[in-house]
Amino acid sequence: MKYVTNGKVAIMGAAGAVGSNIAQSLLATGTANRIAMYDPFAAGVEGAAAEIEHCAFPQADVTWTANAAEALDGAMFVLSSGGAPRREGMTREDLLRGNAEIAAQLGADIADHAPDVQLVVVVFNPADITGLVTLVHSGLPPTRVTTLAALDSTRLQARLAGHFRIAQHRVTGCRTYGGHGQEMALYKRDTRIDGVSLNDIVAGLETVNGVTLNTDDWSTIRADVVNGGARIIRLRGRSSFQSPGHLTALMVKAAAGGESFSWPCGAYLTGVPYHHVMMAMPVDLGPTGVRWSLPSGDDAEHAELDAAYAHVEALREETIDMGLLPAQTQWGSSNRHLA
Ligand SMILES: NC(=O)c1ccc[n+]([C@@H]2O[C@H](COP(=O)([O-])OP(=O)(O)OC[C@H]3O[C@@H](n4cnc5c(N)ncnc54)[C@H](O)[C@@H]3O)[C@@H](O)[C@H]2O)c1
Repeated sequence: MKYVTNGKVAIMGAAGAVGSNIAQSLLATGTANRIAMYDPFAAGVEGAAAEIEHCAFPQADVTWTANAAEALDGAMFVLSSGGAPRREGMTREDLLRGNAEIAAQLGADIADHAPDVQLVVVVFNPADITGLVTLVHSGLPPTRVTTLAALDSTRLQARLAGHFRIAQHRVTGCRTYGGHGQEMALYKRDTRIDGVSLNDIVAGLETVNGVTLNTDDWSTIRADVVNGGARIIRLRGRSSFQSPGHLTALMVKAAAGGESFSWPCGAYLTGVPYHHVMMAMPVDLGPTGVRWSLPSGDDAEHAELDAAYAHVEALREETIDMGLLPAQTQWGSSNRHLA
């Protein structure tokens, strides 16, 4: 078995549902075999590592520790789902205080123990903020810190496949940008249902499989995507973990030089029209990190993205007001790349 990278991958929060699934997916997808599993819950991470050993993946080199420095030391990739998950009725933003404090510590630990890391993927919520806080405290260039932001797009793909009663892979070009929260922008210009433009279907010009989709249906689908995570919590009694685990592993695969990752990822934005936030954008993800670009869309889609940006920006200001993030003018003193 050949893995895309033999570099060390540190998983923070590895006793948890997402973290342990990231470890499993890294091995199962042939992405990485050297995995350091860290969690402050020592017995839990020992158990999670034992489970991975019991999978008997070839050439797996999996260690566990309750010492963050030990896990981070020499890491090529740092993936963190180490933080509280949402419970029923909570928004991602409700998690803000506790998880922003964890993110600040994570960033400082990376600065101390893994300053040469190639890519950091922040998964714990609210990821737009925890990713930004981690970046500010890590001292890393913005190209080397990203967030898992693909799930809203994969949920849109699955939802459309269900609507048209076709296989999921026949729905292409599903992209949501902006916040990974209650405000996101659904860009449907490039969405194709079995090769047919979704915009043409919504305009009443086309059908697929004898199925139509009007603007009311689109509004319902949009709401279902925004509430996609809450649906999993309602159905399973806990927040999603298989899909974030798998998609995070695929992000590492692309960053390590393997198969490309076409879903949106979190990127730190500066310049016009979005300033000093981390949010989901179209990106190139590869060995040099994350490079973002503005999405193409119509006026309504851009207005949705502006609204999503305003929401992330307000959350950033709230985080600053709560004393969990320095004022933006101070970021350069902990991270020279943000000066
Ligand atoms: N970005 C996304 O798309 C996405 C999707 C699903 C879940 N999430 C988020 O991922 C996070 C983890 O979810 P989960 O279901 O694995 O939760 P979980 O409760 O199963 O696991 C969290 C783990 O983090 C550990 N932890 C606590 N403090 C820590 C610290 N300071 N450093 C490292 N680890 C620490 C806990 O001991 C626990 O083992 C949550 O914040 C959840 O909201 C994000």
